[in-house]
Amino acid sequence: MQFEVFTLLPEVFPPYLETSILKRARERGLIDVRIHNIRDYTHDKHHTTDDMPYGGGGGMVMKPEPVFEAVASILGPGSGVPVILLTPQGRVFDQRVAEELSHYEKIALICGRYEGVDERIREHLVTDEISIGDYVLTGGELPALIVIDAVSRLLPDVLGDPTGAQDDSHASGLLEYPHYTRPPEFQGWKVPDILLSGDHAKIDRWRREQSLLRTYRKRPDLLEKAELTKEDLRFLEKLKNDSSS
Ligand code: ADE
Repeated sequence: MQFEVFTLLPEVFPPYLETSILKRARERGLIDVRIHNIRDYTHDKHHTTDDMPYGGGGGMVMKPEPVFEAVASILGPGSGVPVILLTPQGRVFDQRVAEELSHYEKIALICGRYEGVDERIREHLVTDEISIGDYVLTGGELPALIVIDAVSRLLPDVLGDPTGAQDDSHASGLLEYPHYTRPPEFQGWKVPDILLSGDHAKIDRWRREQSLLRTYRKRPDLLEKAELTKEDLRFLEKLKNDSSS
């Protein structure tokens, strides 16, 4: 999958992309992340990318010309590639959105800076707007890295373990069950016996129940949208009854 990133801060990206799983995915040709400096698409002496807002008020606004030119020169006309603006005004990024994006061969990510971008970028260039949460950052670079990271790890072969992304928190709409590794006892705290039992059917059921329990306690809002079996619903019913008694 290819990511075309448009930014005024290209130097932000390599340190993260050259680390760990994303580095390996890039080396293996599973993802290709291309960083484009919007400033390279300016034509004035000062390479101006922002200007004062019409109507007054504080802050600067990203000019439309270099952004349009950068995107046009990289994507070409009528490419059909989603052009996503990272902005706190976008739809909120979650695992469903990551999955949706992972089906594209290529996406473009525009990182906003300053107070905002000229509205014509939003109206006539961008096809989607994504926010990583209800808080405001100084720019869209970290959000773009977050989108690249969350989408990349869903692509085939990016994670070493082929089942890696299936059990993730949020993959099934639930939080993930607890994990343990050696030693079996640490400072007197034991690994639950069931995990050492070798009975995989029981382990699977225990993990599912732990997922349900965690989600019920920490993020009950997620239960409304999760895919639940009859057995899950019975377990949740029991939890509710136990906690109300
Ligand atoms: N740019 C600034 N804040 C942002 C946010 N929360 N999500 C996406 N882009 C942003």
